[in-house]
Amino acid sequence: MTGRAWLSILVLMVDSLSFCINEPTAENKAPRGTCSKAVDGVHCDENVVVGEPGQLELTRLDGVEEGYVTSLDIEPGRSLQLKTLSMKPLVFEIVDFLTTSESDHFIALANNIGLQTSKTHSDRANKNSFTLFDQDGNRRLSLDEMKLTIENSFDVYLDHEDIRKMYTDLDMDQDHDNEITPDEIQKTSPADMGEYLQKKMIQYPEKKSRFSEQVWLRPDFSTDEVFQHVQLRVQKLTKLPETLIKRSHVQVVKYGLKGHYNAHLDSTPLNTKVPCCTETTRWKGNCRICRYMTILFYLSDVEEGGETAFPVAGNITLDEEVLRSSGNINLFRSCHKANFKVPPKKGKAVIWYNHFINPKTDWLGEVDRFTWHGGCPVVKGEKWIANFWIRVMDTKEETEKGF
Ligand code: OGA
Ligand code: CA
Ligand code: FE2
Repeated sequence: MTGRAWLSILVLMVDSLSFCINEPTAENKAPRGTCSKAVDGVHCDENVVVGEPGQLELTRLDGVEEGYVTSLDIEPGRSLQLKTLSMKPLVFEIVDFLTTSESDHFIALANNIGLQTSKTHSDRANKNSFTLFDQDGNRRLSLDEMKLTIENSFDVYLDHEDIRKMYTDLDMDQDHDNEITPDEIQKTSPADMGEYLQKKMIQYPEKKSRFSEQVWLRPDFSTDEVFQHVQLRVQKLTKLPETLIKRSHVQVVKYGLKGHYNAHLDSTPLNTKVPCCTETTRWKGNCRICRYMTILFYLSDVEEGGETAFPVAGNITLDEEVLRSSGNINLFRSCHKANFKVPPKKGKAVIWYNHFINPKTDWLGEVDRFTWHGGCPVVKGEKWIANFWIRVMDTKEETEKGF
């Protein structure tokens, strides 16, 4: 890299450092199909019309308050307890949402199709360039700054020892002072570093942001009776239109020992320049993954570890730059620091809203940044989950047209 390129990257860095995310301001007007708390108790609006043409509505359940439990009679002879786990972000759990045989059925479907290693940004990272995180602007990278540089550009999570080993292996830190100057970095090409990190990840897959295997179950699986039953139950729970439920995909994920998923958002901030992905555009890029809601099922018990962690839940404010530097995104290392964690349990469902509702359009509002979450490492045993993601397009009209 030339000295000038280094400088221009530094300028970029200063810009991005001043970037700070404030609390979402979108106030939701009373959403449909929800419960609300009043002096004389909690009232639920059950008169929700769903799935009719022109009636496409986003709903949002009311958490009332942390620890609040409400009983849902959504199937004859079976009542489910919906418990509010967190108000910020709004997260609920339903123990025994799936029966044991339904959980087993999803695992069997996944095994029949065949699971594949989950891909992360590290597998797709542009190996020809990277952004140097010179946070203090002294034109040299400390170990911490190199750590952030590698996390952000390569999506690989190394500790100081790994970085020092990389310096030795690639002969990067010529004066052995644990700092990398423009002169020193010039002698290493991003491609060499990328190749080196790629090899590291094959050797130590737990250093990737996501270490798991997965398979997609597409909506055309709805000929599967269990799948249909679960879809219907999700619809009754969420009160979302049938079209949204039917078009949502299910991803089954298997984590082995050390399997984990670092903290992330399941959806993407609004962006008028980049549209929500459709089934066809999602593989071509230049579109956003738009998931209004996440419904996560635990398909297995886990002997130890494997909690779903929300590292910034309940914080007053959120600065994503600070979150990145704190190391709390790295759930492989920092799960114990997460503000709140959901222990896995076979059949349990955890649900949350990745977006608010925009009261002006009655449709997809800003991302709820407090939904940063991920999977803690499996310490003992295996963990199976299914993600049921409620996909939407940017507007009601586009969503109605189909995607
Ligand atoms: C995910 C996810 C959490 C978990 O797959 O997107 O956040 O507990 N998983 O595995
Ligand atoms: Ca040096
Ligand atoms: Fe997720």
